[in-house]
Amino acid sequence: MQILRKIEDGLMYVGADDHKISMFESTLEIAHGVSYNSYLFLDEKTCLMDTADQDVTRQFLENVEGALGGRKLDYLVIHHMEPDHCYNVSAILSRHPETKVVSNAKVFTFLRQFFPEMDFSSRSIVVKEGDSLSLGRHTIRFYLTPMVHWPEVMMSYEESEGLLFTADAFGTFGTLDGNLFASDVDFDRELLGDARTYYTNIVGKYGSSVQMAFKKLPLDKVKMILPLHGPIWKEKEIPYILDKYQKWSTYTPEKKGVLILFASMYGDTENAAVYFANLLAEKGVKDLHVYDLSRTPMDELVGLSFEYSNIALFAPTYNLTLYPSVDTYLTDILRMGLTKRTFTLVGNGTWAPVERKLMVEKLSTGRGNTILPTELTILSALKKEDLPVLNQMAEEVVDSLK
Ligand code: FEO
Repeated sequence: MQILRKIEDGLMYVGADDHKISMFESTLEIAHGVSYNSYLFLDEKTCLMDTADQDVTRQFLENVEGALGGRKLDYLVIHHMEPDHCYNVSAILSRHPETKVVSNAKVFTFLRQFFPEMDFSSRSIVVKEGDSLSLGRHTIRFYLTPMVHWPEVMMSYEESEGLLFTADAFGTFGTLDGNLFASDVDFDRELLGDARTYYTNIVGKYGSSVQMAFKKLPLDKVKMILPLHGPIWKEKEIPYILDKYQKWSTYTPEKKGVLILFASMYGDTENAAVYFANLLAEKGVKDLHVYDLSRTPMDELVGLSFEYSNIALFAPTYNLTLYPSVDTYLTDILRMGLTKRTFTLVGNGTWAPVERKLMVEKLSTGRGNTILPTELTILSALKKEDLPVLNQMAEEVVDSLK
C-alpha cells in the first residue's frame, strides 16, 4: 500500500523508512533504522526531488506512482549521488521515459559511473550555481554545495514557499514512523543523539564545507528544511538545528563536561576510570559520563566526542601497541577532524607500559587538541601512591572547564 503524506499544497512526501538496517554504509551501527526521504512537486510540471535506497524500492516506487496518480513525471532533480538516494534513478527513468534529469555536471559524471548501461544524453538538464527551474507556481533555484559531504552535492531552494532541500545536511538517523516533522517529536530527547551521530560520522570531516554552504544559502528566508534523512524542519525549529550545525561544523563543544572513555581487559583500568569520575563528581563536575570503548558503538562515541569539551582516556597497553578499541577510537575522531578538545590521558600496563606515550603520539597527529600536562601510567592496578597524581589530573580538568 502506498504511504503518502502531504507536506503542503503541491508537495508530497514519497520517501520510506527502513526498519531493518543495522549497519549504515556497512560500517556505522545504527539502532533505530533510517528514513530515505524523497519529495514530489505536483505543479503544472511534476518534479521528484531525489529517489531512495534499494532496501525501500518497493515502498518508494508505490509512493511515487500513487502520488503522481497517472500524471507524467516531468523532472527528477538529483541533489546527491550516493546510492542510498540514487539507487532508484534507473527504476524511475525506466518507468518514465518522458522524465528529464536535472542536476549539475558532476552528478551526470557520477550517473554514468553508477549506471553505465543508461544513456542520459537526451534527457539531461545540466544546471549551474544560481540557475533555476520553473514548475509553474514553484521555482527551484540551485546552489552547489560541494563536499557536504561528496563533491557533486547541491542543494535547492524553492522560492515561493521558502523550501530548502539540503541533501544529507540536516539529516538524522532513525525512522520517521509517521513523525514527518521535527516538531512532531521531542527532538532534543528522542533524536538529537541520532542526529549528532549522523552528522559527525557522515559530514563531520567537512565542517568548512558546511560553513561555506551556510554563507551562500538564503538561510534568513527559509521556511522549511527538507533533508534526505530524518524529519523536516519547520520555520519555528530551524534556529535550533542551525545552532547545532553551527557548533558541529566549527567543532565547538555543545557542553562543558567530561566524557570518560576506558578500555579494560580485567577491570583494573575500568576501576581507575570510575575512581576518576568520582573524583570529578566530588569536585563539582556535573556533566560527566563513563563509557566502555570496547562495548559502545564507535559512531556513537564519535558523536559524543563532538558533544563534550573534555575527554579522559584510560587504557591498557596491548602487545606494545595501542589497545585496539583505543586505536580505532583515536583513528575515527581524527579522521572526522575533531579538534578543540581537552584530553586527559591515563595508561596502564604490567610490563613495558607504553599506552599513554602511544596515545599522545597518535593524538598529536591531529590538530588543535590539548593534552593536559599531568601524566599517569598505572602499573597493573591503581595504588595509593597514584591517588595524588589522579587528584591533580582531576584539578586540571576542573580548571579547564572554567
Ligand atoms: Fe544519505 Fe551521503 O547519503
